Amino acid sequence: MARNLAFLLLIHSILLGISAADWNILNQKKGKYGLQITLKNYCESWRMNVELHNIRDFDIVPEECVEYIGKYMGSTQYKVDSERTVDESTVYLSTSCSLKKDGSDAWIFDIDDTLLSTVPYYKKNGFGGIKLNLTSLEEWMKHGKAPALEHSLRLFNQLKGLGVQIILVSSRRECLRSATIDNLVDVGYHGWTSLILRGTDDENKDIQKYKADVRKQLISKGYRIWGILGDQYSSIEGLPTAKRTFKLPNPLYYVA
Ligand SMILES: *[C@@H]1O[C@H](CO)[C@@H](O)[C@H](O)[C@H]1NC(C)=O
Repeated sequence: MARNLAFLLLIHSILLGISAADWNILNQKKGKYGLQITLKNYCESWRMNVELHNIRDFDIVPEECVEYIGKYMGSTQYKVDSERTVDESTVYLSTSCSLKKDGSDAWIFDIDDTLLSTVPYYKKNGFGGIKLNLTSLEEWMKHGKAPALEHSLRLFNQLKGLGVQIILVSSRRECLRSATIDNLVDVGYHGWTSLILRGTDDENKDIQKYKADVRKQLISKGYRIWGILGDQYSSIEGLPTAKRTFKLPNPLYYVA
């Protein structure tokens, strides 16, 4: 009995030794201060710091986290996180927006991973773990089969009901206009005021500048932009901005 126990303890410590050794690669990279971290801890903290905008300009999801991020994008947690973003927008609308209802109240939405999900594309293309091939992404967009993000559709319809002008501002290029409209209408979005896509003039601007310039024009036309819902910081940062901005989670890619 005692020998068995000693044997078990020996096995246990060998296994612990092995698993600790396994994480050494990670520990050397991130796990300072002697914290024993799992791959899950490591990848969740990567994801969180993307959302906090501490991690910027990443080209691809780190290889060791591709599986984790893929799972997150298909998870209930992703849905709950997105629903919370939309719920907070709704709270803001009902408590802090004194809408004038004169046709100049406006709200801006992104399209990709805000109104429409590109997750089916990324699922087939390495879940953010390989460098983006824009040609192949645009081919996929042309098919117009992107599903709606249901919570965003709820906010879209609520705003419409309140008489707020809905303005879609996307980094998609003009050549995708008809595919984009078909896709949006197909999954339930209709009644927006304007759909602004990137023309050839805008192709040399970075996305944040392009979107800020669009807002400047909207404001000069007299729109009061109460809010923006987007999944990228480049959609909500830069001046002029909206009265408030709301960011949906998106750890799959970064648009500068
Ligand atoms: C990008 O995608 C296009 C269209 O699917 C393909 O023809 C091309 O070879 C791809 N480029 C790379 C570098 O993989």
